[in-house]
Amino acid sequence: MTHRKPLIAGNWKMYKSVAAAVATVLELKPLVSNANHCEVLIAPPFTAIKTVADRVEGSNLFVAGQDVAAEGAEGAFTGEVGAEMLREAGCTHVIVGHSERRQFYGETDERVARKARRALDAGLIPIICIGETLAEREAGQAEAVVERQIKESTATLTAEDLIRIVAAYEPVWAIGTGRAATPEIAQAMHHNVRGVFENVFGSEAASSVRILYGGSVKPENIAEYMREPDVDGALVGGASLQPDSFSKIVFYNRD
Ligand code: PGA
Repeated sequence: MTHRKPLIAGNWKMYKSVAAAVATVLELKPLVSNANHCEVLIAPPFTAIKTVADRVEGSNLFVAGQDVAAEGAEGAFTGEVGAEMLREAGCTHVIVGHSERRQFYGETDERVARKARRALDAGLIPIICIGETLAEREAGQAEAVVERQIKESTATLTAEDLIRIVAAYEPVWAIGTGRAATPEIAQAMHHNVRGVFENVFGSEAASSVRILYGGSVKPENIAEYMREPDVDGALVGGASLQPDSFSKIVFYNRD
């Protein structure tokens, strides 16, 4: 099996002033500086990206945007931020299709696919999020919904692109609710997602792509996810805001 280096990513959402973001990152940096077993990433709000990126330069911390424009490098698109702008500000990655964007801002798979393409073309790694709602799971549609999302959100990609991207399975009912998916549920869905990738892009690309789990990940439950063969890391919201809890998640391999 292809070696997939785990990725532990913190999504700060709409939290932290520039000052608070800097304070957090200065505390976090030494705590995770010897994390060689995984990659570590934080996604601050747009306003803090440049300052945070400057403070972590030369460290093992990657910086991501939380969204990106589907349109070109620049233009009359009020409120949008382009992929090249994120890269210039110090980002290496960008989250696309987060369920909060899908739920509250009408994000579609088609736009997510265009955003992923833009990110790759600008040299950013897109973290493409997918995940079913509670109603969809209760109706027995979780697999079908996720399959559709993953196919359509990667419709702009080739097998070579797939190796570079990161996917994140985040069941909507587990995000910010404290009701995390069981490791078995996560593993089963990750296995399905990898199977979809295999059908569309071939087995080599499918075995290389990293699939993160997200939804109420905490220091207390991270280790059990990471034991699952198709879970290659985590996308962490609430528990990434504090350096102490986030660094404990990063060191999931310690007792
Ligand atoms: P949570 O958020 O860890 O607070 O549940 C996860 C996410 O939205 O990425």
